[in-house]
Amino acid sequence: MPTIKATASNIRKAAAALKAGGVVAFPTETVYGLGADGLDPRACARIFEIKGRPRFDPLILHECSAARGRRLFARVPAAAGKLMRKFWPGPLTLVLPKSKAVPDIVTSGLKTVAVRVPSGRHALALIRAAGRPVAAPSANRFGRLSPVTAAHVARQLGDGPDIILDGGKTPIGVESTIITFEGGRPVLLRPGGLPLEEIERVAGPAAAPAGRGKKPLAPGCLKKHYAPQARLKIVDPGAAPKPSRKAAYLAFSRRPAGRWAAVKVLSRKGDLREAAANLFKALHRLEGSGAALIYAEKVPPHGLGRAIMDRLRRAAA
Ligand code: TXA
Ligand code: MG
Repeated sequence: MPTIKATASNIRKAAAALKAGGVVAFPTETVYGLGADGLDPRACARIFEIKGRPRFDPLILHECSAARGRRLFARVPAAAGKLMRKFWPGPLTLVLPKSKAVPDIVTSGLKTVAVRVPSGRHALALIRAAGRPVAAPSANRFGRLSPVTAAHVARQLGDGPDIILDGGKTPIGVESTIITFEGGRPVLLRPGGLPLEEIERVAGPAAAPAGRGKKPLAPGCLKKHYAPQARLKIVDPGAAPKPSRKAAYLAFSRRPAGRWAAVKVLSRKGDLREAAANLFKALHRLEGSGAALIYAEKVPPHGLGRAIMDRLRRAAA
């Protein structure tokens, strides 16, 4: 049985597995990650196999302190240093020129590397005990819904990972915000658990990515992603479609009228943080209802709403 509780002794066991080239799924404050020794190319190769992830999609390296995270970069612009000091540990990933220590398989051959210091205490304890950067994408099959519980991981990956550490539901519920820098200005590669507004307050206004029209700046930010197995359609909260027992409904703050195959409300208070925390769990539930179609309501596109709308649009693509 690969799933074990994230106790201190099991975290030591998981760290030993990482050092021996194993693959461990573990909770972070955002979503569950599928981790391996980030300096061991063979261990990293197993992540791609277990996820069914194409090799052109690079991994994030996780470190246990800002000082150690910083060492994985060759150069750090001043504004990026400010972000590290303010938001690490936390749901912020920085993409900057990589140091020589980082293997090519981690970056898919790119000259930049994605690094973050998670704030989840089990994640921090695991990385500290492993004593090396831990490469970890979200612990789902490629292109499927991200996992926010150990059961979600087990359902998609089965006994692929050597160990699944169960630390309960992850509190933020959407992946980290990914930022890079161009000409000293921050560029948003993926909206996530840290609102862009907070980043801009520290690093200045974000620039639009220069890569427009060419290949995407974050190779993994494919248009279709985070997909539930049902078809997903985005609707306006005021204009709910006709109720159907064959469709499921994901509401932002108010339960829709009528009978549906299943209904989930993201936040009765209309709170975007709470809505983000509930997003993937609700989608897993609605997917499990067997409905062929899921209607998902738009949410306000600021703060954590930006990350929610990004995930819904990809799921609907
Ligand atoms: O919250 C998170 O970020 C979670 C937890 C486990 O830490 N991880 C996560 O990893 O979401 P993943 O692999 O599912 O998403 C990472 C994204 C991918 O879209 C990848 O293409 C992009 O980061 N990425 C990684 N390295 C990059 C690089 N050097 N340049 C541009 N994008 C990069
Ligand atoms: Mg992912």
